[in-house]
Amino acid sequence: MSDSTMLLAVFEDIEPAANGIEKLRELGVSDEQMNVISGIPIKDTILGRPSALSYVSRIAFTGAILGMLLGIFLIWGTPYLFPLHVGGQPVYPVPQLLIIVFEMTMLGLMGFAFLGMFVDSGFPSYNPKEYVPEISDGRIAVLFRCPDDQQKKFVDALTRLGALSVNPAEARPAQSIPIEGPAYIPNLGAPKNPVPSDQASIGRGAELFNINCTACHGADGKGDGPVAPFLKNKKPADLTSPGVQFLSDGAVFMVITNGMPNAMPPLNENLTVLERWDIVNFIRTLK
Ligand code: HEC
Repeated sequence: MSDSTMLLAVFEDIEPAANGIEKLRELGVSDEQMNVISGIPIKDTILGRPSALSYVSRIAFTGAILGMLLGIFLIWGTPYLFPLHVGGQPVYPVPQLLIIVFEMTMLGLMGFAFLGMFVDSGFPSYNPKEYVPEISDGRIAVLFRCPDDQQKKFVDALTRLGALSVNPAEARPAQSIPIEGPAYIPNLGAPKNPVPSDQASIGRGAELFNINCTACHGADGKGDGPVAPFLKNKKPADLTSPGVQFLSDGAVFMVITNGMPNAMPPLNENLTVLERWDIVNFIRTLK
């Protein structure tokens, strides 16, 4: 789908959003191709969208019937297959029948109602999705796909109907994680440290070091953490050594970010960019 773009229209309120959806439908976007995002649950019908029928009750009912049949089979079918006469008791007991059938019916009902919720919520769903911070402030957003050559037409039409903004939704590469500070650009060498090495940064760094690094590198960074004896390939580096202290801030940042093959795990997903720089600043104090 290279000739179409995902657009995100943000509306102030329900009314303009409903008009926008109506317009989108006129322009040929089907209901399955749009996704409404709102901070509070808004019924589809309020926005003039087809209301999604819930199948949970029907699925649960099917489960109840199946459970009941199983119960009847257990209490009537099995004595039929293996008749046992015990002390003049009837082969098909009625009181037990009631209990077993009731239990199996309820079991079927509950099990299927649970599964039904997954089926009903369309899990997994491949509809367009996006996190939009404005939504938390009560706005309503509509996410939809539109052909590139008609983008202007869509934007104009929605703006006229009161859309606060209509922008291409951010495309994020798979597995990317959000960052909130300067990271680094691949192939441009080690980055420069953007975080001043003040008391606040070093304090945060000390705390984060304690959580993320001491297991291997030890509380003083000497490479003697409690996990160190178990590492077979390579022992954790002594961070107070001239060899490590000689490394540039950027080089240490990269080690934390990418780890070291067969030695140290990459910690980019555990630590934000700024947190990594805080740790770098703290490591400088280990001498
Ligand atoms: C699972 C254990 C482990 C954890 C956790 C760990 N490291 Fe390491 N680290 C190692 C090992 C092992 C080496 C030594 C690799 C080598 O000698 O090639 C190393 C090496 C290093 C080096 C030296 C790199 C170099 O080029 O000489 C630095 C700096 C470092 N770690 C920083 C950190 C920081 C900061 C943290 C926490 C954010 C951390 N490490 C967490 C195991 C770990």
